[in-house]
Amino acid sequence: MIRFFYVAKNHMAQILNLLWLKFYFIWRYLKHSASIRVTNQKQFIGRIAAHCHVLEKGLTMPEGKFNFGKDMIIGLCVLLDKYFELKFEPNVIIYASLNVLREYIRIHVENNVDVDTELKSKIENSLGKYSFGHCVKDERNFYVNEFSGYDYAVKPFADFAWSRHSVRDYAKKNIDMKVWGRVIQIAQSAPSSCNRQATRVHLVKDRSKIEQILAIHNGNRGFGHLADAIIILSGDISVYAGAREINMLYVDVGMFSMNLLYAMHYSGIASCTLNWAYTVEMDRRLRKIIPIPSNEEVCVIVSAGYYKDSYKVAASARLKTADIMCFY
Ligand SMILES: Cc1cc2nc3c(=O)[nH]c(=O)nc-3n(C[C@H](O)[C@H](O)[C@H](O)COP(=O)(O)O)c2cc1C
Repeated sequence: MIRFFYVAKNHMAQILNLLWLKFYFIWRYLKHSASIRVTNQKQFIGRIAAHCHVLEKGLTMPEGKFNFGKDMIIGLCVLLDKYFELKFEPNVIIYASLNVLREYIRIHVENNVDVDTELKSKIENSLGKYSFGHCVKDERNFYVNEFSGYDYAVKPFADFAWSRHSVRDYAKKNIDMKVWGRVIQIAQSAPSSCNRQATRVHLVKDRSKIEQILAIHNGNRGFGHLADAIIILSGDISVYAGAREINMLYVDVGMFSMNLLYAMHYSGIASCTLNWAYTVEMDRRLRKIIPIPSNEEVCVIVSAGYYKDSYKVAASARLKTADIMCFY
């Protein structure tokens, strides 16, 4: 009996710790993220970056589109106008967003396609507000990369790292299982907490399964169908214990996935990380397509295919290094 109470008390303590930790995070998440309201500069920049990226990504789509992303453009203009009204200092993300709007108009003009009148006036209005010389830089939001063969593999690390981009266009060429074996083995050099190696790799080559998976995902429109393979990265919950380790799984799988991107790039394989920002419903649907065991938490999906000789990439401007560093 005493033993029963001891075990029950222990279990209860674990559950309470877990709930407290999650509650602590959820409270801070609601307080600081842009989930409920967008008021401070960082929240604005986050929302603006996300809108800008959807549009700059649209500019790189293999089958060029026109008059796309109307809601995104309107949303971006509203955010930029508000940012301007609040007199926040423009940064790299603001420049990139203004450029993406200019680029949007430019591409339509270049191809003799009319931009929706309402949209055009909204864009011009937002651009006009920021038209003080230094702000709008003449930088492109996307550019065409030429695949330089396996040169990548012998480049100094900094060049190699900067030559990797999320690529949303792939050659129609099969990546065989031997190549995948080598790539995944290289990715296994990633560190993991206590060497627990929780990451599991679900490689999907079957066309019908790929299509079904992409149909429940919201970030692959316009390019997902071109991928030769889809990789689902999950973490095995079984190897962790206690409330304090609950987030380690995401760090472990995250580190593995970055290594996997490099391993693919090294092997001439282009890739794009695809968010798995899931709902319970989405998670259940995914597990019906691929029998991912319940002890595994799906963290991220990656689309992959061999590089084409020439492909467009989104510039994805980076913040200044000084802006992300703190010294103590
Ligand atoms: C966790 C995560 C989720 C992402 N989800 C998507 C996605 O759903 N669709 C997409 O096209 N790109 C996605 N990306 C790619 C990012 O847009 C890209 O990494 C970012 O713009 C930086 O560009 P780069 O990878 O070319 O350096 C994702 C990246 C990460 C790390």
